[in-house]
Formats: sequence, C-alpha cells, structure tokens
Amino acid sequence: MVAERKMQPLPPPEHRRALRFVAFLAVSLLAFSCWALVNSRINDAVPDSAALMGDADRMPALAGEEGARRPTPAASAAVPASGGAVRLMSDPVIREPLVRVGGGGDGERSGRCDADTAALRVFVYDLPAEFHFGMLGWDGKGEAAWPDVRDARAAPHYPGGLNLQHSVAYWLALDILSSTLPPGGGSGAAGDSRPCVAVRVTNASLADVFFVPFFASLSYNRHSKIRRGERVNRNRALQAELVKYLARREEWRRWGGKDHLIVPHHPNSMMEARKRLSAAMFVLSDFGRYSPDVANLKKDVIAPYNHVVRSLGDDESPAFDQRPVLAYFQGAIHRKAGGKVRQKLYQLLKGERDVHFTYGSVRQNGIRRATAGMSTSKFCLNIAGDTPSSNRLFDAIVSHCVPVIISDDIELPFEDVLDYSEFCLFVRAADAARKGFLLRLLRGVPRDEWTRMWRRLKEVARHFEYQYPSRPGDAVQMIWGAVARKMHSVKLQLHKRGRFQRTGWES
Ligand SMILES: *[C@@H]1O[C@H](CO)[C@@H](O)[C@H](O)[C@H]1NC(C)=O
Repeated sequence: MVAERKMQPLPPPEHRRALRFVAFLAVSLLAFSCWALVNSRINDAVPDSAALMGDADRMPALAGEEGARRPTPAASAAVPASGGAVRLMSDPVIREPLVRVGGGGDGERSGRCDADTAALRVFVYDLPAEFHFGMLGWDGKGEAAWPDVRDARAAPHYPGGLNLQHSVAYWLALDILSSTLPPGGGSGAAGDSRPCVAVRVTNASLADVFFVPFFASLSYNRHSKIRRGERVNRNRALQAELVKYLARREEWRRWGGKDHLIVPHHPNSMMEARKRLSAAMFVLSDFGRYSPDVANLKKDVIAPYNHVVRSLGDDESPAFDQRPVLAYFQGAIHRKAGGKVRQKLYQLLKGERDVHFTYGSVRQNGIRRATAGMSTSKFCLNIAGDTPSSNRLFDAIVSHCVPVIISDDIELPFEDVLDYSEFCLFVRAADAARKGFLLRLLRGVPRDEWTRMWRRLKEVARHFEYQYPSRPGDAVQMIWGAVARKMHSVKLQLHKRGRFQRTGWES
C-alpha cells in the first residue's frame, strides 16, 4: 500500500527555482510590511518631539501668521492636541486627534485634554489663598480653594506696570486651573481654546510634576516691607510657611522635591527659601543671583519676562527703511558689577546721530515712548545690567527690533528649541567695548540680512506672549513644554538612582 501513496511528481528543476524565488519574494514582502507598520507606529508617537527638538516655532500656526499673533476666539482654526508636544513623562501614547477650537458657534473640542493626552501631568498644591490669588484681592470665603477661571475676563487681575514683568506664576496657575474645564463653554470660555500641553491631575500618583502655586515675585514686590506689628516682613513669613508646608508633604519627601515646580522669576524673589527648596525645578529669568548649586540649567527652566511695551502686529511693523534709528538703548547707564560695559558703550556711542542711547527706565509714559522708539529702530541693544537678563530683550522682540545681545552670561528662554542667532546678534562684551566695533558691525549688516531676521522675529514673537486663555505656542505653553523636557532628564536621574531601592515588599 505504501507504493500506492500518491506522490506528487517533483517539478522540473527550473520550476523549483521559480517556486523558491516566489516564496522568497513573499517572505520579503511580509517582513517589509511588518517593518513599515512598526515604523509608522513609532513615527505616530514622536513626530512632535522631533518638532520640539528641532524647531518648536514651526508648529502649525493658528489661522495663518496674523491669527497666531493676535488671535480672537472666532478666528481660530484646528491645532494639534498637544500644542506641539508629545507625551513625554509616562506611558507612550499615540498622538491625539486635532483639537478643534471653538469657531462658528459649535465651540467643541473634538479631542480630549486629559491625563492620557497631555505631555505633562501637573498636580497643583491647594496652598492657602495668601500664597497666590489672595495677593490679588481674591478671597474664596473659605469655600473655594481656587477662583472661578471659566470666564477669562472675570479671573483675578494681576497688577500692571512693571509688576507684570515677572507675572509668570500667575499665567501658569490660570492655565493649569483651566485645563480641566469642560470644553464648549461658549464664546471666550477658557476651556475652549486651550492647547493640551499640560493638564491638572488631582491624583498625586499620576503626576509628572508638582506645581507649587506661590506668586513669589509678587510677594517680593508687595510684601518686602515690614509693617507695624510685624517682626519679619510678610514675604519672608510666607516663604518660611511654604518651606514648612512642603517639608510635611509626602509628595515632597518622596524625591526630596526634585519633581516640584516653583516659580521665583524675579531675581530677588524667594531669597530666604531658595536654598532650602533648591532641589525643585525653578522657573527663573536668569541665574545672575543664584549660586550654581541652588540653580542651574541642568534642573531649571528660563522663562521670558512679560514685555512691557505694546506688541506690534505683523502689518504695522515698520520695515528697514521706516526705521531711521540704527541702534536703540534706554535704561540705567550706571550699573554695578556686570554693567560696566553700559557706561563704556555710552561713552562710545553718545555722539552718534542715528543712535538713541539714553538714561531712564521704562515707566509710565516712558512705556509709550519706548514702544515708539523700539519700533522705529533697526537694532535694540541688550546690555548686561546688574543681572544678565532684562525685560528689554522681550520688548525688542515684540517690537521686531533686532536684538543685539551684549551679555556674556545670559541664558535665553527655550533655547533648546529656538535658534536665537536667526533673529538676534550676539556681541561679546570685550568686543563691544572696542572703539568703533559695534557701529561698524551694525552698519555692515545688509538690508536683506536684516530683513531676514526681522521676518523671523515676527514669527517667533508669539512665543513670548503671556495671555489667558493661553494659545498654542505662546509663552505659557512654551514653558510647560520646557518643563516637560527638563523633567524628562530629572526623572531619568531619579529612576536610575532608584534602581536598587526596594519598596520593602521583599523584606
Ligand atoms: C490614583 O492613581 C493610582 C494609579 O493609577 C490608582 O491606583 C489609584 O486608585 C488612584 N487613586 C484614586 C483616589 O483615584
């Protein structure tokens, strides 16, 4: 019977070769499609991180460039759910569909903004009101921990003038409080248009970062004087209370505060507590008044000053020929320490007809004059003062006046995603002090080159706007993005250190 087993006759050798070739083709095709599938998954998960690392400001703009500069709720278009960030901190999550910003009345967000979709999950400490909105006259009457932020116009206002320069904590607080508002609240409601970079979580074990909502800069501005009946000033007392509060918290003790976010943006703010709380990530204007062990670029984030001059719209920005002043500087000439170069430059430039170089700070009607002065100048000088940074740089940017940065130790906001050399000139202090150097340099910049930088300034200016409700790519979102990226490397160090630290279950 064995003989009866039907054997297929073997195909002739050339057919066998053809068959083997077909089989080989099929396997190759299968392998290729697997590879392509995996690859597309990876690309889905990271496109924005690549964008962030490369150039965040090429994120899709809202309704064209102008809409992005001066958005109105009705003119807004679709924006990415993450506002150009990728989920960095916890489980890898595929990028969410687009967020639709409330236009034409339907006002609904088609994507969610929640713990799964945001790049950064933020736990907000319910500090007593005296640490934050209480300073703005808000009082929860013992019922509410936080003001109602649904209507942007009704949210507590920050005092204006020069106070505003360091108002970073206020804008971050408003934004994160609004992150859990339901979308579709109607015209201008904060929940509608908010980009989803950071989201508030109330479950601490889900948090990537713990936000300490202390308005430290305002506390310094407002409460530094000792009042009658006080032994220490209120600014100091609040800091002492904050240190005690955090030291008691389990969340702080877990990593010694390293995953905490504190915003002492004014160079003199949190003078007393900064060392005690230095494990935390700080949001600062510069490192000028910090020792490197208390603050450094490894753990901290540099945020822009809120500009004090009015922002120029794209279409009202004078071009090269409408800016008769070659170089503009207004500020105090006599400065301590790093500011010597100011005096030197003043001596070198004061006689030049197309240079505006004057004493006096930007105040009251000075603000109007500075707005006019910067917007009719080709270059705006940013010279180190008693701190390496100043609001002048951001005033220049929103005036589309090409900044000339003469400050060897300056740290710049978002420099990991922004290439400042595209829209600023950098001059070493030693060079600037040489006779004729600066004028030769500035007069030698060809009109085309200047115009290229001016165009770029108009594009990047929106990254330096603080506003509420926040908009994609504005200063608030850029800060959250920077915090997410930095927290990434902080967590790497923490997790590495924790490799051999057991939780106790194995005893
Ligand atoms: C908080 O999140 C953790 C981790 O997902 C979960 O196990 C826990 O039940 C949550 N707690 C509350 C109160 O929801």
